Amino acid sequence: MHDGSGRILVQGLSKNFGPIDAVRNLHFTVEPGSVTGFLGPNGSGKTTTLRMILGLIAPSAGVATINGLPFAQLSNPGTVVGAVLEAQSFHPGRTARNHLRSYAAAMDVPDQQADQVLELVGLGSAATRKTGGFSLGMRQRLALATALLGDPQVLVLDEPSNGLDPEGIAWLRGFLKSFAATGRTVLVSSHLLREMEHTVDHVVIVSQGQCVYNGDLGQLRSAQRSRVLVRAADPGKLVTALQHSGFVVEHLPDGRLAVLDSDSRTVADLALQAGVALYDMQDEHVDLEQLFFQLTNGQYTGGAAPWGGPGPAGGAPPWGPPGGGFAPPAPQQTGQQPHQPQDAALWGAPQQGHRRENENGDSGGKA
Ligand SMILES: Nc1ncnc2c1ncn2[C@@H]1O[C@H](COP(=O)(O)OP(=O)(O)O)[C@@H](O)[C@H]1O
Ligand SMILES: [Mg+2]
Repeated sequence: MHDGSGRILVQGLSKNFGPIDAVRNLHFTVEPGSVTGFLGPNGSGKTTTLRMILGLIAPSAGVATINGLPFAQLSNPGTVVGAVLEAQSFHPGRTARNHLRSYAAAMDVPDQQADQVLELVGLGSAATRKTGGFSLGMRQRLALATALLGDPQVLVLDEPSNGLDPEGIAWLRGFLKSFAATGRTVLVSSHLLREMEHTVDHVVIVSQGQCVYNGDLGQLRSAQRSRVLVRAADPGKLVTALQHSGFVVEHLPDGRLAVLDSDSRTVADLALQAGVALYDMQDEHVDLEQLFFQLTNGQYTGGAAPWGGPGPAGGAPPWGPPGGGFAPPAPQQTGQQPHQPQDAALWGAPQQGHRRENENGDSGGKA
């Protein structure tokens, strides 16, 4: 029996496809009652991790459990976990309603549930239309409806806002929040922090298959720091005045000063009081999007982490959130292949369960 907690537990999960380390020793927990964002650039291992959680591919190491059990051991898993993975496809000649009814039958769910979930995802008026004519956004909604058929406790969505228009994204945001507010579990992946920032409470950020941040989004936000870059006639005198007022000041290689957690007006006033002429001043604000890019961009540049590599605090960037939450930056990896689109994978019905990988590690068949 599963423990009924609705918790997803990922412990030491790794997956390599031949020489490619797609996922490396991931540890995180997804708690019920909130929306957890699983974020990272394309190719960072999100889909591979979700596929392992959903029992579609076997881990090279580690374990993932839902309600205390590996997916394969859940009975009638469609009633425990609803999932939508990338690039789902449907029988084009089937209507949305008939598509859902065939899944409902397989899951032993009453037929009426098909119409209920169609209404829930805003596709009520398209019930009798063939899915072959559906837009990408409509397909995303139908995939979500399929995942919801079994009234699951846990929802796992891979890049669900792909193909949705702004209205669809806003709708999805509201839906996920209200789903989680009923005490259920939501794990949702995205390569765009901006799209998720108003949806998620907790974030797990991955880069090159490794976790680079695991914590509250609020805590990550508090790591946003502003600083003022200033060129002064007498830098030494200005530093003394600024430090006297409690500011932390850094010397930049180009001769400018960086005044942390300040603004240009405050710095200008202090300079005037100290009688120091200023030649140039610039407010710099690190927003969440930049922070995300800095956390993950080693993947693309192949260069050092933006904050200069692991420091005494285990690699936390100097503007790291209070109390940490950062894992050491991912070591640079070679041999990473460009991201390959995954095969269709839509979960929601028992007959689709437990597809295993073939020799090259792919699960093969279309949903
Ligand atoms: N079946 C596969 N065979 C070989 N390499 C794969 C396979 N699936 C994923 N990869 C590789 O694993 C890495 C992570 O991919 P993926 O999990 O799809 O990332 P994301 O979902 O974050 O974009 C990429 O380098 C990708 O090319
Ligand atoms: Mg993916």
